[in-house]
Formats: sequence, structure tokens, C-alpha cells
Amino acid sequence: MPKMAILNNENYFYLPAVIFVILFSIEGGLIALESDDRICADSSFETLPDYNPDWPASFGIGTKATIEEINAWDIDITADGTGLPDGKGTVRAGRKLYRSLCQSCHGEKGLGKPFDALAGHGDAQSYPFPGDKYAVKTIGNYWPYATTLFDYTNRSMPFASPGSLSADEVYSITAYLLYLNNLIPEKTILTAETLTSINMPARNRFVAEGRCNSK
Ligand code: HEC
Repeated sequence: MPKMAILNNENYFYLPAVIFVILFSIEGGLIALESDDRICADSSFETLPDYNPDWPASFGIGTKATIEEINAWDIDITADGTGLPDGKGTVRAGRKLYRSLCQSCHGEKGLGKPFDALAGHGDAQSYPFPGDKYAVKTIGNYWPYATTLFDYTNRSMPFASPGSLSADEVYSITAYLLYLNNLIPEKTILTAETLTSINMPARNRFVAEGRCNSK
């Protein structure tokens, strides 16, 4: 008896479908590669249709976005801290907020369970990941920038009510999580400036991805 079920006589019936799926996947991959190449090789808008003077000035759909609407979406904070709001936070205030808003999912002191661990797994300097696929990634041992923690918490946590935290609350929770990871002393007042100046242990474990033109 053949080892692969697909070669059983009764299964020949499915063979054309299987071949079709395989060919389709390869084709899909090629298309993806081609379009990716095009975007990477030339970031101009050459592939968009030319402006047509017959088009009306407006298609009459939607409304012009207001500055307030744009600002409400424009919340990204880059690795160098650009975009961080005014405000400040303390470890003490962060501990309280963490216990009521985060601990149910991320565990006491950020140790994890039921969801991701945020602190307290292994020595931050050792970076065991290439040799140990089960090593737990945390903010302290894996994240290259502390500013990402502000950005992530601000835009997506608590899980059920993202965007609900004030700037001071996010600074405080960020301070508590950095403190749990032994990255700042307990008395730190976290501001845009102090947050940006933190040098994360995994900072030099990542390099800029150079395949596409990212200027
Ligand atoms: C209802 C459960 C829940 C609550 C409450 C919650 N989180 Fe999360 N959190 C998650 C889940 C689930 C993920 C993983 C999301 C993903 O991978 O897309 C996550 C991911 C994270 C991560 C990224 C972890 C990593 O290493 O990738 C951080 C940081 C984080 N949460 C912080 C917080 C903070 C701070 C709070 C409280 C303000 C909070 N979370 C509250 C469920 C929760």
C-alpha cells in the first residue's frame, strides 16, 4: 500500500483539483513577488493612471477630513520618540493602573498568563532566542525601543478599550512595566525626554531591513 494517502486509487479523483491548487499557489506567489519588486524598485507613482482632465472636481462622496479628525488618527510614535505627547507618569501610579486594567490578562508583575508575559523571564542581556525557540520574549529582553511600549499601549491596550487611556496614564503604565523589567529606578518620573533616553538591552539585536528602498 502506498504511503501517501493521495496516491490511493480512490483518491486519483482529487488529483486535478490538487494540481490546480498547487499551480494557483505558485502563480499567486509569482504575482506577489512581481508586484513587490515593482514597489521596491521604484517608489514613484508611475503605475497609477494619469490624471484625466474630464474628471469632475469632486465625485461628491465623503467630506473633507477636519484637522481634529486627522489628529485623532495621527497617534503614531516613532522609535526616536517623535509624536510623544506632553505628560508624565510614575511607577507608583502605573502599578495601580496595571493592577486594575492589565493584570487580569498579563499576570501579576507582568509575568504573563493568560496572555503575553511583559516582564520577568530570563536575563535581559543573554538574548537566548536564536538557540531556544521556547524562550519567552518580554519588553526587557526583546524590545529594541522603549518608545514602542508607549505607542503600543496607547493605541491598543487595554484590549477591550484601546484609546481610553490619558497620556499621563500611559506614561505611568509604561513606567511601571519598564521598572518591572529593571530598566528604570522606581523613583523615575517618566516623560517624553526620559522615555526616549532609555537604552534597551536588545537595542543592537536588530538591523534596518535593507531590501526595499525605504527613503
Ligand atoms: C482582555 C485581556 C487584555 C487586557 C486587559 C490587556 N491586554 Fe495587553 N494584550 C492582550 C493580548 C491578547 C495581547 C496580544 C495581542 C496580539 O498579539 O495581537 C496583548 C499584548 C500586549 C502587549 C504586547 C506584548 C508583546 O510582547 O507582544 C503589551 C505591551 C500589552 N498587551 C500591554 C497591556 C497593558 C499595558 C494593559 C493595561 C493597560 C493591557 N495590555 C491589558 C490582552 C490584554
